[in-house]
Amino acid sequence: MSIETSCDETAASVLEFNKNKIRVLSNTISSQVKIHAKYGGIVPEVAAREHILKIIPIIELAFKKAKTKIREINAIAVVSGPGLITSLIIGLETAKTLAFVFKKPLISINHLEAHIYSNWLTNKKIQFPVLNLMVSGGHTELILMTNHGKYKKIGQTLDDAAGECFDKVAKLLKIGYPGGPIIEKMARKGNENAYVLPRPMIDSKDFNFSFSGLKTAVLYSIRDNKSILKQKNDFCASFQKVAIDVLVHKTIKASKLYKVKTIALSGGVAANHKLREELRKLTKKQLSKTAFIYPKLEYCTDNAAMVACAAYFHYQKKDFTPWSKIKVDPNRELE
Ligand code: KG4
Ligand code: ZN
Repeated sequence: MSIETSCDETAASVLEFNKNKIRVLSNTISSQVKIHAKYGGIVPEVAAREHILKIIPIIELAFKKAKTKIREINAIAVVSGPGLITSLIIGLETAKTLAFVFKKPLISINHLEAHIYSNWLTNKKIQFPVLNLMVSGGHTELILMTNHGKYKKIGQTLDDAAGECFDKVAKLLKIGYPGGPIIEKMARKGNENAYVLPRPMIDSKDFNFSFSGLKTAVLYSIRDNKSILKQKNDFCASFQKVAIDVLVHKTIKASKLYKVKTIALSGGVAANHKLREELRKLTKKQLSKTAFIYPKLEYCTDNAAMVACAAYFHYQKKDFTPWSKIKVDPNRELE
């Protein structure tokens, strides 16, 4: 059983593993999107209060849907970071209490590792080395994975995350929150060549990204050209095109250098169909021996099934943390 409360989703899930065959028995989520939409972004204090209200009902629902009881499970997994400290603490304290009362081993999971493992929920026989493009509201990273639990970060954003940039651009265009899915929908009706926007760091020699310059360019474009607000579909398409171009370009370049067998997309932005399509197209064209994989839509944005999936690989190694030692780490790095 797993718990995820790192940001604004309260989630719990029960998974069954049988000789590496994974069955998601339940994956329950209570989303706070509507609550935070009126602020145009997540308010940590509000998020924490909601987690407190939802955590027990969501866990109860996860067990009910899975048709099982807490006494039947093998371990409890919880995300301990990275994320908002006041949100993380609710999930962690709940997991700790349950582990103590029901005498279950406790597994401390990194949120980024959970996103990476969303691919193991969806795809069979993933071959290493894997290059993970992890793109969410808080992170944009290229992570080389040589085996289960063996990670090397080879690039990251130097400022804003890709998802954060989608959210901020949507805010500037006054089209709602969260921005990613709204921009994607409007972009489908727009002309991606209508506006010229920069592709920050596309030619840099490293595998890092930068999205704050693109966000500033959007701010100035809207300030100086009011007609954009009448052509929002075109502007969304043009913005989405450059943001995706940078992500795809660096991922393909890194995949060639590290000779990876698999390119795996994950994180909230992985829900973007245009990003999936572009990566698929270029992988096929330039890296014919490399597989390109991505998670099912429901496992892209924050959920607890991906947490339990990552936990399974720790469970096999008996990588447990005693309830008295587990701690939240809002800046937890992928170790
Ligand atoms: O992984 P996630 O649920 O939370 C974090 O760990 O940050 O990702 C949320 C982010 C938001 O910034 C949201 O705008 C973005 O993922 N997102 C998308 C799409 N769906 C969600 N971005 C682009 N296109 C989408 N379809
Ligand atoms: Zn996330």
